[in-house]
Amino acid sequence: MSGTPCLAYRVHNKSLILRSNIQIEKMDHLSLDIRRVLPFIPERDLLKMETEFKIAQKTLYDGTGAGNDFLGWLHLPSEITDEQLTEIERDADELRKKSEILVVVGIGGSYLGAKAVNDALTHNFSNLFKSGPPLMLFAGHNIGEDYMHELLDILDTHSYSIVVISKSGTTTEPALAFRILKDHLVGKVGLQEAAERIIAITDSSKGALRQLAFEEGYRTYAIPDNVGGRYSVLTPVGLVPLAVCGIDIHQLVKGARVMARMCSPGIDMMKNPAALYAVIRNALYRSGKKIEILVNYHNKLHFFSEWWKQLYGESEGKEGRGLFPAAVDNSTDLHSMGQYIQEGERILFETVISVDRQQHDVTIPHDRKNLDRLNYLAGKHMDHVNKMAELGTAIAHIDGGVPNIRIGIPELNAHFLGQLIYFFENACGISGYLLGINPFDQPGVEAYKKNMFALLEKPGFEEDTKRIKKKL
Ligand code: PA5
Repeated sequence: MSGTPCLAYRVHNKSLILRSNIQIEKMDHLSLDIRRVLPFIPERDLLKMETEFKIAQKTLYDGTGAGNDFLGWLHLPSEITDEQLTEIERDADELRKKSEILVVVGIGGSYLGAKAVNDALTHNFSNLFKSGPPLMLFAGHNIGEDYMHELLDILDTHSYSIVVISKSGTTTEPALAFRILKDHLVGKVGLQEAAERIIAITDSSKGALRQLAFEEGYRTYAIPDNVGGRYSVLTPVGLVPLAVCGIDIHQLVKGARVMARMCSPGIDMMKNPAALYAVIRNALYRSGKKIEILVNYHNKLHFFSEWWKQLYGESEGKEGRGLFPAAVDNSTDLHSMGQYIQEGERILFETVISVDRQQHDVTIPHDRKNLDRLNYLAGKHMDHVNKMAELGTAIAHIDGGVPNIRIGIPELNAHFLGQLIYFFENACGISGYLLGINPFDQPGVEAYKKNMFALLEKPGFEEDTKRIKKKL
């Protein structure tokens, strides 16, 4: 299938030159198209931010900024060895052989990465297949009683294993879910076999989960101290569950390695996709845009947007600052949110992830009666219609005052997802420093926990309990 020409920008004699005629089919990496931002942010404004970008990038790579004890993700792709990946696959094989279902227990950064990648790379209807890799299900990402009951219903009649993930080892939601699931699994297969079917991924030495794993004899993986939850998908947090469910983790990491090289210091800002994205979103924010909408035209990317929302929301939303990260799945949401995006308050811009080639062909048939008047599309691929919906929407939104950044990936596979993941992580670090906040902490997450513990009358929270009861 042919793609639209990709446009890249480079700096020449202090002005931007449009370089076209690079066919998307020939590209083997993510591309960034910023043509539809330039009507809103003049070229000179982007170029003016170059010095600021260089300082932000240097702060990140030199490790001299706020949160510099959480930079382990920066060089992770090149530090993970193929031997380590193979070892993960060996353990994953053990679980796979025994399981129709893999239950991943975790919340936030301890579940969204695996969910995002698994959804993107798994057949839409794999839950209806009788064979194939285990189905990835989740627990501990909510506290829904009905959800847990219905999950247990399914687990009663299917073989399953558990990967329990918690960096702190003390987060209430996954701890609660794991207590219930462990009890169920032991009841079903016995203590010894249950221990064989559980992998715990947690801090290398501390936390309740580490102690539990040690006492119960679970296989364990450590989450590096210097990698925060939302940056952890390329650690065992993402890699172990993905490997159990048959995802090619070697390709995922290889893709991230490619992107790490494309984003490294020394590469011109206009040729470094993460730099350009970080600079543009900050320029748009400063120009009054308050909401960034991540848009996809591929339903399998829904949870990739959820992962992205956490990455940017938790990294940047602090000190009264930061773009609000939102997401839509198109064309579905053009029939719900499209009106607001087109004509609502002009505080939005959108970043579109566009998948150039589809995995499968579906051609629109000719119909003799043509009562639906669709014969003008006969012989065309469905994706052609999707791409025209994307293009038509971008043009309409530009006319409506919504700048549009387009991120193209050649196809939806593990390699390009690895590129996309590292691209967004790297850009997030730079973007956070451009914004002037610490992109690696999350102090605001504690507020609800304190109130919840006070309301639950957790030992140690007696004073908070008294205080909160007065507010009721
Ligand atoms: O990004 C983060 O730090 C959070 O989303 C955590 O991943 C989430 O709160 C779960 O924490 P833990 O892995 O300690 O259970």
